[in-house]
Amino acid sequence: MNVLVVGGGGREHALAWKLAQSPKLVRMWCAPGNAGIAAEKCVDGSAVECLPIAADDVAGLLAWARVSRPDLTVVGPDNPLALGIVDLFEAEGLKIWGPNKSAARFESSKAFSQAFMEKYGIPTARAGVFAEATAARVFASELAGRCAVKADGLALGKGVVICHRLEEAEAAIDEMMIGRAFGEAGTRVVIQELLEGPEISLHALCDGRTAQIFPTSQDHKRALDGDQGLNTGGMGAYSPTRYLSDEELAETAERILEPWLKGCAAEGITFKGILYPGVMLTRTGPKVLEFNARFGDPETQVYLTRLENDLLEVLTACVEGKLSDHPLRFRSEAAVCVVMASGGYPGNYAKGQLIHGLEQAAALPGVKVFHAGTATGADGHVLTSGGRVLGVTALGATIREAQALAYQAVQKIQFNGAQYRTDIAAKALA
Ligand code: AMP
Ligand code: GLY
Repeated sequence: MNVLVVGGGGREHALAWKLAQSPKLVRMWCAPGNAGIAAEKCVDGSAVECLPIAADDVAGLLAWARVSRPDLTVVGPDNPLALGIVDLFEAEGLKIWGPNKSAARFESSKAFSQAFMEKYGIPTARAGVFAEATAARVFASELAGRCAVKADGLALGKGVVICHRLEEAEAAIDEMMIGRAFGEAGTRVVIQELLEGPEISLHALCDGRTAQIFPTSQDHKRALDGDQGLNTGGMGAYSPTRYLSDEELAETAERILEPWLKGCAAEGITFKGILYPGVMLTRTGPKVLEFNARFGDPETQVYLTRLENDLLEVLTACVEGKLSDHPLRFRSEAAVCVVMASGGYPGNYAKGQLIHGLEQAAALPGVKVFHAGTATGADGHVLTSGGRVLGVTALGATIREAQALAYQAVQKIQFNGAQYRTDIAAKALA
């Protein structure tokens, strides 16, 4: 099969790396890809080809696919999904993995998701959806200002403000709804009560009728150790977590996925792809904070390191509605991914820094260095080109071993300004 992967971050490197291990794969392209993806080889030794087309240039991707006719396209990021890339490709008879535009609303509209969860009895926070600032302020005051104020639409992961006082909530509401800090995304806001407890990532692969749950994982969203500093795209992840036993995970999955599948059927939504609920484990049970309609980044890096199945087979079955023929199998080993980021991230940062030590890190058994923001320089050297640069991922018999190995690999890698958290997976060991 010839496969196109859309995206160019750490998640897409993990997808491309895992897909490239399939004996069914003949050729692979990635748009736009990165230096690490370009260095991957298919089973027959052929190289993965990176295309200079942006992940959200859906017209450009479609024009390319009309000519090159990939047998399967795998979409990584949320933007092209929200823009309807799946509908466009399907209309041309091109097989593509990911939710269509209607199904991608679980991520592209928090108001849609909140209303859906309430309608179908999916455990979530007490919440309101508002198209008008005054009503939003009244609800925030009912919650005594202890709330999460969320822009309805996609806002580059910045559309959520956690508030502890009414003044903070009012300022967030005004910024989104009146100041239009996130443009159209703030036409409506969702306000949720503030929940407390450990937060985990769940992922379920869905083929439109059935769903299969992945093991638990946990992201580290803040920039600095001890969950301090600014919110980022994710500074590291590990899997499994210690928060849910296998039985509790199955029970949680059932409480979320059963009503979700029923609701999808009732609403005529055919969801093919990954449903990624962000879940808070509160004292009164697990509650869904939000749905994403794609793989998490860096959760994908730890999940695909643990996945035993042929990913190409699984994703093809998913598109064909035959997922139940392919039960997911995961290694019992734990995986830890430590993100190395550019100095200053998530604020301003320099690009074009030379990265040293990649080969030494990769030579450690059990280590895979996934690239995120990297590019190949004129002389073939690997340079930084984004905020999150690398996802240094290790597999170990235990979380402790995987963590030690991941940090051993991190020590081998240097670039100017490199920053990373030193406490990824520490919560699993506390
Ligand atoms: P979201 O994009 O909805 O996942 O929100 C981003 C982050 O804000 C989440 O990962 C949580 O850490 C936090 N958050 C979102 N909703 C709530 C809530 N209702 N209570 C407490 N924290 C929340
Ligand atoms: N790991 C956070 C995200 O992918 O949204």
